[in-house]
Amino acid sequence: MRIGLLTGGGDCPGLNAVIRAVVRRGVEHEDNSFAGFRSGWAGVLAGESIELTQESTTGLLPRGGTILRTSRTNPFADGADGVARVRAAIEQAGVDVLVPIGGEDTLGVALRLSEGGIPVVGVPKTIDNDLGGTDFTFGFHTAVQIASDAIDRLHTTAESHNRVMVLEVMGRHAGWIATYSGMAGGADAILVPERPFDIGELCRRLRRRHEGGRTFSIVVVAEGATPRDGGLSTTAKGTDAFGHERLGGIGAALADEIEEITGYETRVTVLGHVQRGGTPSAYDRVLATRFGVAAMDAVNAGHFGVMVALQATEIVEVPLADALREPKLLDPAFYEAAEVFFA
Ligand code: F6P
Repeated sequence: MRIGLLTGGGDCPGLNAVIRAVVRRGVEHEDNSFAGFRSGWAGVLAGESIELTQESTTGLLPRGGTILRTSRTNPFADGADGVARVRAAIEQAGVDVLVPIGGEDTLGVALRLSEGGIPVVGVPKTIDNDLGGTDFTFGFHTAVQIASDAIDRLHTTAESHNRVMVLEVMGRHAGWIATYSGMAGGADAILVPERPFDIGELCRRLRRRHEGGRTFSIVVVAEGATPRDGGLSTTAKGTDAFGHERLGGIGAALADEIEEITGYETRVTVLGHVQRGGTPSAYDRVLATRFGVAAMDAVNAGHFGVMVALQATEIVEVPLADALREPKLLDPAFYEAAEVFFA
């Protein structure tokens, strides 16, 4: 069998570990060979690929980013017949099965291809951890560690200057990174997309904390958080091929308002792509490796239209359609545990 791999959407620590694991498991059958398509679906459509072998994928385990590069190309954009385009492209490339590694958009394409009869096995990826069907995605743990390290650093400077520090982290639909890192770092407030916030109430809480003798506060905000009476903060640079706006700006807007309402000096830090770059944590290397091995096992077993997933401690296969039905939002009980420590 010839297996075509691709990585799509935003990059994520652990992508290379998946590629290495798929190939390492796959070469146990000498009939298997691997085409690594360049830049997500763009490389599939353009027929641009590199040969992946055990030799060419060695040393990838700790490497951040993706050796295949990535893009947000959508084969179905502008009403195109994505199934026909991809079928023609993979036939030309001699590829029998696709293993796309991606988030809701890349795997959304995979689902439509699968419904059109193309054999696919998906591997879930997102630092945001908001994909359904799986308890965790690789990359999330690394991002949380980076964000909680940042909170630790903000704590000492906040305390020295008697400031409120706002930290903006990623999280488009869901506040997983914000809540995990905020809980780990001892944040005094965590604002998430699932719970529109009231700026007046937040400021009252911060005031109460400062009147009680504390001289500084840490507020973590997910980029997709919104005020109760407002919308998403975006950079107004248009949308990508999947119709997503570019988010950003909530941290700065919030810091301005906090300073204006409370009179406390407030600063903002936007962590941005630092959360996505660099080497994966040990946890993410292991999860990515287990996903890669399981994806290849699904291919060998002829289980198509599925996504590999982590459920409790087991790696399982779930139908792509189930995984993509809706984003996985924060568990309310988990957020409420973080709230115990708020100002
Ligand atoms: O992978 C999802 C994500 O991390 C979102 O939280 C964020 O909105 C998006 O990627 C930003 O990615 P990029 O800057 O690559 O468009």
